[in-house]
Amino acid sequence: MLRGENIKAAKGKLGVLLVGLGAVSTTFVAGVEAIAKGNAEAIGSVSQMARIRLGKRTENRAPLIKDFVPLAKLEDIEFLAWDIFEADAYEAAIKSGVLEKTLLDSLEPELRKLKPHKAVFSTDYVKKLSGTHVKKGANKLELAKQLMEDIDNFAKEKQLDRMVMAWAASTEIYLEADPVHWTIESFEAAMKDNHPAIAPSMIYAYAALKMGIPFLNGAPNLNLEIPALRTLAEQNKVPIGGKDFKTGQTLMKTIIAPGLKSRMIGVNGWFSTNILGNRDGEVLDDPESFKTKEVSKLSVLETIFEPDKYPLLYGDLYHKVRINYYPPRGDNKESWDNIDIVGWLGYPMQIKINFLCRDSILAAPVLLDLILFTDLAMRCEMFGVQEWLSFFWKSPMTAVGLYPENDLFIQQTKLKNTLRYMMNEDLITHLGLEYYNQM
Ligand SMILES: NC(=O)c1ccc[n+]([C@@H]2O[C@H](COP(=O)([O-])OP(=O)(O)OC[C@H]3O[C@@H](n4cnc5c(N)ncnc54)[C@H](O)[C@@H]3O)[C@@H](O)[C@H]2O)c1
Repeated sequence: MLRGENIKAAKGKLGVLLVGLGAVSTTFVAGVEAIAKGNAEAIGSVSQMARIRLGKRTENRAPLIKDFVPLAKLEDIEFLAWDIFEADAYEAAIKSGVLEKTLLDSLEPELRKLKPHKAVFSTDYVKKLSGTHVKKGANKLELAKQLMEDIDNFAKEKQLDRMVMAWAASTEIYLEADPVHWTIESFEAAMKDNHPAIAPSMIYAYAALKMGIPFLNGAPNLNLEIPALRTLAEQNKVPIGGKDFKTGQTLMKTIIAPGLKSRMIGVNGWFSTNILGNRDGEVLDDPESFKTKEVSKLSVLETIFEPDKYPLLYGDLYHKVRINYYPPRGDNKESWDNIDIVGWLGYPMQIKINFLCRDSILAAPVLLDLILFTDLAMRCEMFGVQEWLSFFWKSPMTAVGLYPENDLFIQQTKLKNTLRYMMNEDLITHLGLEYYNQM
C-alpha cells in the first residue's frame, strides 16, 4: 500500500462508467454537474463536506477530507453509461421525476450529451423490464468484449487517466452461487456456453476487472462475492466494493440499532415496511428481485445485535421487511418501522419511525463518495474488497471468512482511521491520553 506523498496523484480525468441510467445515476450526474459549476452544494457527501480530526484535540486540526487526501475533482469527471432504454440523461432524469425541471433545464446541454450505450441485458434476470436498446452477441464472453470496446473508445475519446465502473442498474433476481463461479477459467467457459448462472451484472463486472477498472455493485445482486470475480480483482490489482447502497430505511437501522445495543436495551421485534413508486419499486414488485433485496436488508440487524452473544436481549428478534410498489409516490419513498424494545426488568416499550425520504437524493452522494474513495484506493495500490468503505454499503463485502461490520459508527471510525493511516497521521482511539498523562 502506498501512503503519504507516495500515493499517486489524482491528475488528469476520471471516467465514471455507469451501468443503468435511471433515477440514481441521473440524480448523481446532474448533481455532480451542478456542484462542479458552483450552482449547488454536495450535501450528504462525506468526501466533499466532512472534516477529519487530526492529532490531539488541542491541535485544532480538522481539514475537509477532500483537502486532506488527494481525491479527484468533480470538474475532472467524465461520464459513460449503458441502459436498455435509449433516453439520454436529460430525458431519463425527467422520467425519473427526482429533480426539478428547472434544475435539469439549466444542465440540459451537459445531460443531453450523455447518451447510453446499448446494454447487456436479459429479461430472465429482471422480469419486470424489457428494453430494445440491448447488445447482441454469440455468447456472454462476446458481450463482455463489446463492453470493453465501449470503454476503450470512451477512454481514448476523453483521454482518461483512470476509470471506475458502478452498477446502478435494476436489481436482478435472486441467484445462488454456482460451481461455474468458482474459478476464472470455469467462469469464462460458462460465459462462452451462455450458462444461466452468469447474470448480466457479472458480465459488466468481468469486463471492468479484466481491464483493471474498479467495480462497485450498488444493488444487492450476487456479483463480486463469487470467487472468480474476486480472484480476477486480486490478480489484476483492482479495488472492488459492494453491495447495495446504504440509504433510507437501512441507514436509519444502522444508526438506531447500535445505539440501542450500546445501552443493552433488548429488541424482540422490528417490522419495516415501505411504499415506493419508482422503477426500482416496480422491479422489486417481482418476488424474485425482491428476494435479492430482502436478503440484503435483513442481514443488517443480525451482525449489529449479535444474538449468539446476547441471546437474552436479541435471541428472539422477529425481523420483517416489506416493500410495496405504490406508483403515486414516485421516487419519494415512505417507510415505517415499528421497533419493539425491552428495558429494565423486561418492561416492553415501542419506537415508531416514519421516514419520508427521497431515495435517489440519499443514494447520489453515496455513489459519489464510493467512486472518489475507490479511485483513491486504486492510487494507493489497495486491491480487492475495500472493507474501510463498508460505511456506504447496506450489505458490505468482507475479506473471506470474516463477518461484515454493520454498525455505522464502527464503520465511520474505520473509514476515518484508514484515511489517517493513508496520510501517515496518528490513528485516533478517542482515549484522551493527553489529559491523563498531565495528571
Ligand atoms: N435509490 C436508492 O436509495 C438505492 C439504494 C440502494 C440500492 N439501490 C439500487 O440501485 C439500483 C438503481 O436504482 P434506481 O432507483 O436508479 O433504479 P431505476 O429503475 O430508476 O434505474 C435503473 C436503470 O437500470 C436500467 N437497467 C436495468 N438492467 C440493466 C442492464 N443490465 N444494463 C444497463 N441498464 C440496465 C434500467 O433500464 C433503468 O433505467 C437498483 O438496483 C436499486 O435497487 C438504490
